[in-house]
Amino acid sequence: MPASDTREAGLCVTPNNSVNIANLAPGKPLPGLPEIIGHSMAGLFNFMGQYAQRTEYFYQATISSLPVEQMPEEREFMREAKLAVEDVKVTYGSGRGAVRALDRISLSFQAGRLTLVTGPSGCGKTTLLSVLGCLLTSESGRSYLMGRLVTGLSEEERGRLRRQYIGYVFQAFRLFRSLSALENVLIALEISGSRGCQANDAARRALEVVGLADKWRLKPDELSGGEKQRVAIARALVNNPPIILADEPTASLDSASGERVAAMLLRFAEEDQRLVVVVSHDQQWLSLSNRTVVMRDGQIIEDKKAR
Ligand SMILES: Nc1ncnc2c1ncn2[C@@H]1O[C@H](COP(=O)(O)OP(=O)(O)OP(=O)(O)O)[C@@H](O)[C@H]1O
Ligand SMILES: [Mg+2]
Repeated sequence: MPASDTREAGLCVTPNNSVNIANLAPGKPLPGLPEIIGHSMAGLFNFMGQYAQRTEYFYQATISSLPVEQMPEEREFMREAKLAVEDVKVTYGSGRGAVRALDRISLSFQAGRLTLVTGPSGCGKTTLLSVLGCLLTSESGRSYLMGRLVTGLSEEERGRLRRQYIGYVFQAFRLFRSLSALENVLIALEISGSRGCQANDAARRALEVVGLADKWRLKPDELSGGEKQRVAIARALVNNPPIILADEPTASLDSASGERVAAMLLRFAEEDQRLVVVVSHDQQWLSLSNRTVVMRDGQIIEDKKAR
């Protein structure tokens, strides 16, 4: 798509395909683009996401001339949108048996923080993590990854983004029974195109990090529940993703191993400046997390910065 200039509309696509926003007056219609953009930052953000999608370019947005006091929530949303969902709804089944697992949820997450998502069984935690992790599409609302609108992308494109940016620890491990611990970790590297000695070394290092250096030859059936969980964590970490989403990562661990995994994930967030979201019932996370989101019946009932 050739570079265009719609400066008078408050939006300028520069020759290097970044998008600059200038002179956006609160409450004023944007000539030429009102039906796409509307008047809100969320609408504008959505438009830019679609633009980036069409051109296959990641965009940069400059909002220097936008008054800070204008729509502070949406402005924050934009800044934090390394990972975000906006107004997402997910329903399983239909008719009388329908279950509303997510009921118009909006959340955004920042790098350098470990967020705990907690709440009673069945309240929608895994469903939320699946939408955040590009594994599940919501029936309405939008989700964003690394500043990019994910909603509307094909399954293949979502898969590519997921492999590039997200390490996902599944609640049920999802290890291949016929493969050794090392091979289960190697798979994640192979999928992202990394093979040979270097991949082997990286997989061994990831197993070492989770305390399984000496168990690399063993298959899942020869590992305890906690060890399987740690292989799943090593697999999520091996590609060095900027985002780690972990569903009950300490559920099968004894308290000592649980503490080790928790400390490790906290270190990834605070020292490596990654974005970590942990779903858990485990009370130990309450004191470790930087923020706690409490869910009930598909909704957020509390969102608290812990420290
Ligand atoms: N594939 C599915 N088909 C139908 N209903 C589903 C499906 N997955 C989840 N649900 C329902 O959606 C709701 C939310 O499920 P979800 O797995 O997100 O809960 P959760 O908070 O992770 O629970 P837990 O703590 O037990 O893991 C539950 O009522 C569940 O029964
Ligand atoms: Mg769950």
